[in-house]
Amino acid sequence: MGCPMFERRFALKRPSEYPFQSLYRPWSWLLSSFNNVALLAFLFILAIALYKRYRKKRGAEKFTYRKVVTNKESNENKESLISVLVIGGSGNLGQCLTEQLVNDGNYVVHSLDLIIPPESKMIPGVSSYIRANICSPEELAIAFQETPVDVVFQTAGLIPTVKTKDSELFRVNRDGTRNVVNACKEARVKRLIYTSTCDVVLSSDKDQVIKMADETYPYPKDPLNAYAASKAEGERIVLDANSTTMATCVIRPSIIASPYSGLCHGLLMSRGGYIGDGTSQQSLVEAGACANGHILAEKRLRESTEEIGGQVFQLGGVSYEWRELANYGLDESGYTAWGHPRRSSYPKWLVKVAAFFNVLIYNLTGYCPINQFLDVASVEFITRSYTFRSDKAERMLGWPQHPPLDDVLVGIIDEYEANSKKSK
Ligand SMILES: *[C@@H]1O[C@H](CO)[C@@H](O)[C@H](O)[C@H]1NC(C)=O
Ligand SMILES: *[C@@H]1O[C@H](CO)[C@@H](O)[C@H](O)[C@H]1NC(C)=O
Repeated sequence: MGCPMFERRFALKRPSEYPFQSLYRPWSWLLSSFNNVALLAFLFILAIALYKRYRKKRGAEKFTYRKVVTNKESNENKESLISVLVIGGSGNLGQCLTEQLVNDGNYVVHSLDLIIPPESKMIPGVSSYIRANICSPEELAIAFQETPVDVVFQTAGLIPTVKTKDSELFRVNRDGTRNVVNACKEARVKRLIYTSTCDVVLSSDKDQVIKMADETYPYPKDPLNAYAASKAEGERIVLDANSTTMATCVIRPSIIASPYSGLCHGLLMSRGGYIGDGTSQQSLVEAGACANGHILAEKRLRESTEEIGGQVFQLGGVSYEWRELANYGLDESGYTAWGHPRRSSYPKWLVKVAAFFNVLIYNLTGYCPINQFLDVASVEFITRSYTFRSDKAERMLGWPQHPPLDDVLVGIIDEYEANSKKSK
């Protein structure tokens, strides 16, 4: 019964018989087999990877230069003053140095860093804050063009955590420093002072012990880590640039101690203890004394270019034992001067295992379960002894005798308490 034409038309176009039936229900086709699901997942992951790459590329090329002039008045009687640029001026040492330069009275001070601090954190008397990246020669060129200076302090550098790639350390500490040197030459800067570190002589040899070394201690063939290697290359770039038109020198602080540096901050925040018997000895230099060493280097470089140009000066400071530092000021109540209960000692093998898993879990998940500074190399570092002399700086720069350990630690604890009260 019925019309044969009608029946044929519809019979042919029934979805189940249509050659491209799946076009009616694409999702059921895609999910209908394992291969298709796998293909989808692959495309999804590829898209995310490409997007991440794109974001990273854009981030690296993003132009961030900006300048904020904060103190117009001081620019008027500029003639008699020396203009300086502190690169890394928002860093731990950079802030201290900037403050001392302003207080010195002989300098017009500019600060350059990746960030411009909020107004409440700006140091009064600083002439301008510049935001620029030392990894960008273009940004440095603009900074030096807009802000001509006589002297540059290159304190900017990357300190590694578990999350830092080795290539990143070289990109900042070596290539960034080279960019700074080139920009200084181009801008006819007269003096350049580079902040390095005593770490440049540490090697990955487990038996290395350094006792009161001076500046003649050689660079190792196998540096402790990429940080030490990248800072050593930075040093050589700066020393090679010493010439009659631009005098350069290198300052090598030991571990810089302030309430906000890694060394003391951990103890103030009640983290960790010490490793093994805690008798390894290292040197620390108080941040203020370290900044003063930089300013003395600038003065001496100006007065006596031949003598100071191309030289390296260690600021060794004072030595301490980890055991002594961790339980500093321990009294009958069982509390240390850091404001926390007595620290315990952890076996070295246990800390090394923990460090290994800390890195492994970070590698696998992107999350650091224990501490972002804890890796096997850093355990090696703090369980070996390294101490450094400062007599060359004392003799040639007139760097004053470093205060004793007690004074440094009491000062740091007091400063920390005063600042945390202020911020409450
Ligand atoms: C650094 O340069 C100055 C000026 O040219 C020169 O007198 C001095 O000897 C140089 N230093 C070194 C270590 O070559
Ligand atoms: C973590 O990743 C880094 C670099 O990708 C590698 O060198 C290191 O061996 C890895 N560590 C562990 C414990 O997986």
